[in-house]
Amino acid sequence: MKPAVLLSTLSLLFSSALAKKNPTFERRCSKLTESFNAADTDILLAEYVPQGTNMTFPESATTSCLKFSISLADMCRLRLNVTTSGTSSVIVEVFMPTTWHSKGKRFLMTGNGGLGGCIQYNDMTYGTSLGFAVAGHDNGHAGDVGLPFLDRPQAVKDYAWRALYTAGKIGKSVVNHFYPSSINKSYYMGCSSGGRQGLKAAQEFPEEYDGIVSAAPAVYFQSILAASAHVFKTTGAPGSATHLTQDQWNAVHQMVIDQCDGIDGVLDNVVEDPLKCQPRPEALLCGPGQTWASDQCLTAEQVLTVRTVYSPVYGNNGKLISPRLSPLTKEFIGYPVMYGGVPSYISEGWYKYALYNDPTWTIQNNFTWDTVDYDMQQDLFGVETAKTDLTDAKNNNTRILMYHGLSDCLISSENSYRYYESVSRDMGLPSSQLDEFYRFFPISGMDHCYSGDGAWFVGGSVQYGPAGALDVDPSDSVLMTVVKWVEQGIAPDTLMGRKLVDGVVTGAKAHCKHPLKTTYKGVGDPNLASSWECRTV
Ligand SMILES: *[C@@H]1O[C@H](CO)[C@@H](O)[C@H](O)[C@H]1NC(C)=O
Ligand SMILES: *[C@@H]1O[C@H](CO)[C@@H](O)[C@H](O)[C@H]1NC(C)=O
Ligand SMILES: *[C@@H]1O[C@H](CO)[C@@H](O)[C@H](O)[C@H]1NC(C)=O
Ligand SMILES: *[C@@H]1O[C@H](CO)[C@@H](O)[C@H](O)[C@H]1NC(C)=O
Ligand SMILES: *[C@@H]1O[C@H](CO)[C@@H](O)[C@H](O)[C@H]1NC(C)=O
Repeated sequence: MKPAVLLSTLSLLFSSALAKKNPTFERRCSKLTESFNAADTDILLAEYVPQGTNMTFPESATTSCLKFSISLADMCRLRLNVTTSGTSSVIVEVFMPTTWHSKGKRFLMTGNGGLGGCIQYNDMTYGTSLGFAVAGHDNGHAGDVGLPFLDRPQAVKDYAWRALYTAGKIGKSVVNHFYPSSINKSYYMGCSSGGRQGLKAAQEFPEEYDGIVSAAPAVYFQSILAASAHVFKTTGAPGSATHLTQDQWNAVHQMVIDQCDGIDGVLDNVVEDPLKCQPRPEALLCGPGQTWASDQCLTAEQVLTVRTVYSPVYGNNGKLISPRLSPLTKEFIGYPVMYGGVPSYISEGWYKYALYNDPTWTIQNNFTWDTVDYDMQQDLFGVETAKTDLTDAKNNNTRILMYHGLSDCLISSENSYRYYESVSRDMGLPSSQLDEFYRFFPISGMDHCYSGDGAWFVGGSVQYGPAGALDVDPSDSVLMTVVKWVEQGIAPDTLMGRKLVDGVVTGAKAHCKHPLKTTYKGVGDPNLASSWECRTV
């Protein structure tokens, strides 16, 4: 967000911070330390937080988790420590706004990212601005790091599913205890690991949620870890012949745009359907005597790196491990974690601390396809999250809204197609019938969870706060879209996205539900949603 936008947002926040006093609410909130009791649960904090308060978080002192979040509602904030076993516990936060009754008595559970460990406070404050009572949790350890898994299988179990399950249960009982009436509908929203957690809930405990928003889900978790390790093995460390610098990856991105941008009929740096984009990196190959320095071209080894990174990944015996990464990834965003020649901290953290419990194990020295076979065979606590039978979700009337950015640099967007089609085949339900409870929206021009060159802002997980605009009308956000589906039976055929430039809306697009394709009508301003329609091919 540019300073001007940030300033106007902040002044908006502080001008509305002159909230009316509500002594009963405030007293009930601070009394929660005495009035709320639950097994294995300690209350660490119960305090009234007026709108506009700059909240800071204890775990941020020792982790890279969010340092602060500005409260967007007058609310009661509760922080709990819930013991999940003799050797594990989960920190749970619950934000309960004063507007809850008038805004539909809804509960929202939020998820995590990466290796867990960070409460998504910005998702929580966003939820309270829409009147939800919102819970969040640290997934059983502090920080987006793997070390806490070392010799602590119970912490791995929390990460795989139990922290979410436990936090949801306790969050709901707090909300039902605090307000004079009980929760009407419950929702879940998360991206990346949070998207995986949402599908885990859909697979294993769908009765907990009426609506689930799962974004860029890290389903086929072990496949994703393997694909990331494989990218590092392919690029090699900086300085090796196979490695590309960030500038060189930027040139690769431009090469892909040059070859694929026109496929959808609009030259806008966005490829509507990357499945149709099969770039030829040899276009960047140096001729005799040419170099990057003089001609901005790549060596044959580097071209092969690009080709390999944007190809499917096969392991032992030719087994498909993972679909290819989208060639539309913004390589400069993915650079530090994926392309920079440093092993993904997520893959390495998992293998080292959760799988092998061996701090000396490294991807550089020890990763082979046998690692992947072993990881998949262990599938610790079902973390793969690949169950394709969603019958329980269907029968519980749980609505699942999944979306994935088609320029995702960390998790292949083709992974989400893979999961959706597997559910369709394994349940024997064509899309027209999956539509009843499970809908998938591919989002062109969206990177991992947020940002991008397309109409990526859908009002979803980790899109508010520093990443996005607070002043976009939230009524067609993905969260309120799932609410409409659940509460009014209005199922979405499209998901509205906004293009943001420096925090300012410059375009919109209604992204079509898979398997329909968002298609330019051939006339009209491509920045207007009305210039596009959903077609079968
Ligand atoms: C909130 O507090 C933190 C820590 O004290 C500070 O770094 C940050 O600038 C504050 N944010 C705002 C918007 O005041
Ligand atoms: C939470 O409880 C566990 C015991 O289950 C304890 O080891 C841990 O230190 C507690 N954490 C906090 C922040 O109080
Ligand atoms: C709802 O889901 C649970 C599993 O979480 C399952 O046991 C139950 O049978 C489902 N309810 C219905 C009505 O199918
Ligand atoms: C990892 O590789 C190093 C270097 O080759 C080797 O010494 C070590 O034994 C390996 N560790 C495991 C667990 O295989
Ligand atoms: C719960 O939500 C449904 C759907 O919006 C609504 O029809 C119903 O009146 C609500 N019930 C209560 C008790 O608020």
